Amino acid sequence: MWIVWVMLICLAEGQLASATLCKTYGTIPGIPGSPGRPGSNGRDGEDGPKGEQGPPGRAEHEGDLGEKGDPGEPGHPGKVGPRGPPGARGIPGLSGLPGPPGDAGDYQATLKSAFSAARSISTYPRREQPVRFDRVVTNERGHYENRYGRFLCRVPGIYYFTYHVTSRGNLCLSFKKGRGGSRGEKVVTFCDYVHSSFQVTTGGVVLKVAMNESVWLEPSEKNSLVGIEGSDSIFSGFLIFPEA
Ligand SMILES: *[C@@H]1O[C@H](CO)[C@@H](O)[C@H](O)[C@H]1NC(C)=O
Repeated sequence: MWIVWVMLICLAEGQLASATLCKTYGTIPGIPGSPGRPGSNGRDGEDGPKGEQGPPGRAEHEGDLGEKGDPGEPGHPGKVGPRGPPGARGIPGLSGLPGPPGDAGDYQATLKSAFSAARSISTYPRREQPVRFDRVVTNERGHYENRYGRFLCRVPGIYYFTYHVTSRGNLCLSFKKGRGGSRGEKVVTFCDYVHSSFQVTTGGVVLKVAMNESVWLEPSEKNSLVGIEGSDSIFSGFLIFPEA
């Protein structure tokens, strides 16, 4: 640096003075000047080439869920669905209060039943058909049906039935019991065998009869039962006691 300065001065002086004079000046260094001001910035360079793609980024707190939000407004009600199957039967309700006492009963009026009926038809009765005792002698409460020759039970209980009939030959009579127009079932059968003479024969039975059951008399093929003036044939029955 020092050498540069000497040379610069020598060159500058050499044009005007002698080389001898220059050598004298060269031995005394001058005071260095103050540094110049920095020059203004140069212009930006051109963009460099595009760099390689970096590694994929990673989202931080990836799995963290936010706070639960407030519930939304309720939606509109849906359409009415199809009718479901019926439910199981409920348990029975409580029993109601007892009713008022009924009217006083009339044992005498209601639990009565008795009849007697005679046959006033001169022909023999038809076999295996109810014998019609058409002429009512007694029919308390009207439980005897003289159109059919049957007693129809309206007071269930124990009854006594009996007959006293005049025959003029062989006769077999059965007590039968049944419902409605049925052929019924034989209860007991009585037979009498006589030849060409009048005779009164009889039979009887104590019978338990249910509501709406009928009781009647029926002949077999031995049916010589007569019902003529002075030789009566009669069928009777009465309640002994009603069913409890
Ligand atoms: C008896 O017969 C009558 C009709 O004649 C009927 O109303 C009633 O229910 C019958 N009762 C029984 C126990 O069969």
